[in-house]
Amino acid sequence: MANKVVLAYSGGLDTSAAIKWLAEKCNMDVIALTIDIGGVKDIGAIQQKALKVGAIKAITLDARKQFVDDFIFPALRVNALYEGQYPLATALGRPLIAKLMVETAKKEKATAVAHGATGKGNDQVRFDVSTAALAPELKVIAPAREWGMTREQTIAYAGKHGIPIPITAKSPYSIDENLWGRSIECGVLEDPWIEPPEEVFAWTKSPTAAPDKPAYVEIGFERGIPVSLDGKKMDGVSLTQQLNDTAGQHGVGRVDHVESRLVGIKSREIYEAPAATVLLKAHRALEAMTLSRQQLRFNEKVTSELSDIIYDGLWFSALRQDLTAYLESAQKHVSGTIRVKLHKGTCTVVGRRSPVSLYDHKLATYDKGDLFDHSASPGFIHIWGLPVKLQARIQGSQEDKRGTKKK
Ligand code: ARG
Repeated sequence: MANKVVLAYSGGLDTSAAIKWLAEKCNMDVIALTIDIGGVKDIGAIQQKALKVGAIKAITLDARKQFVDDFIFPALRVNALYEGQYPLATALGRPLIAKLMVETAKKEKATAVAHGATGKGNDQVRFDVSTAALAPELKVIAPAREWGMTREQTIAYAGKHGIPIPITAKSPYSIDENLWGRSIECGVLEDPWIEPPEEVFAWTKSPTAAPDKPAYVEIGFERGIPVSLDGKKMDGVSLTQQLNDTAGQHGVGRVDHVESRLVGIKSREIYEAPAATVLLKAHRALEAMTLSRQQLRFNEKVTSELSDIIYDGLWFSALRQDLTAYLESAQKHVSGTIRVKLHKGTCTVVGRRSPVSLYDHKLATYDKGDLFDHSASPGFIHIWGLPVKLQARIQGSQEDKRGTKKK
């Protein structure tokens, strides 16, 4: 009996060719696993295709809830954004896919898992490292990293083996999508000087074509997690989908970024992430109301650390778990409602309220009713400025003369 391998199967050209290649070259029985984390259109058709191409079994899983609860919202809680631009949709999806591949492999008594990532990107790192962290005994095979075929050759290989070639194989773009966003690479986008043509976008209206009338959304958070939209309790999947739709209609969430890949190269990436853009902005605004200055400053460090951890394929690492435990505590008062205005590609926070807000009107107001003790300020400033004053007295004025010198 041949050894079994669980292949993460998307129905696209590479993973379809991989079914044949694994059977032919590795002499393995292929179990195709198709996972919906948002963005999978006709999962039944994909399953049928896997069997037609030669898989001995084709399994489908709807993992959208798990994706939102265990990956997207934990990342939102820490404001995860790679290089300040990319909300990490693909980077968050890969470890979940790896986890489900490993679980399936154990159930099916497979000796290996396989994925369609190439040898040049971040995804191979995320799949391989996640698998190693969860099941070090499993072998990982990446056909597209090994077979050395160009895209043209892969199409020819598919043709030779009677594999139906998807229309998407003819598109010059490489696309990945899930609930947290959509990424577009390749084609003319490889020239970083060229503005992305309108055809690359699928989730967002062009800001110029978006409605003239703005839309408002109210997002309710509990402990840093979105739980309601416009006052209605909503599960995370529906809430994210609805926000992708509404914000996308208003042209919100387009990103054009030259990104530093873990494997060393710079790549030009276009993203569409309407829900992520709105939720990240809203979450930050709520933190500004409910966390102290010290907490906010410290969280910046955690944000930067965790964004890199997620990007770099280290989701299943001890440090990520430790930081998640920190967040559990750090988010306990991040509850309240944020009102966001969506208009022609912009997303602006215009209102906020929270039962545990640190904004105290009586302390903030310049009108009557002001409770701030103005007379305490001179004493405070005296101590605060003491080291500066001391240094100036002994070492001379601290004015930086270089910038002010007249020629
Ligand atoms: N650059 C992004 C990342 O590394 C998106 C990758 C998209 N993957 C893909 N196979 N098209 O997370």
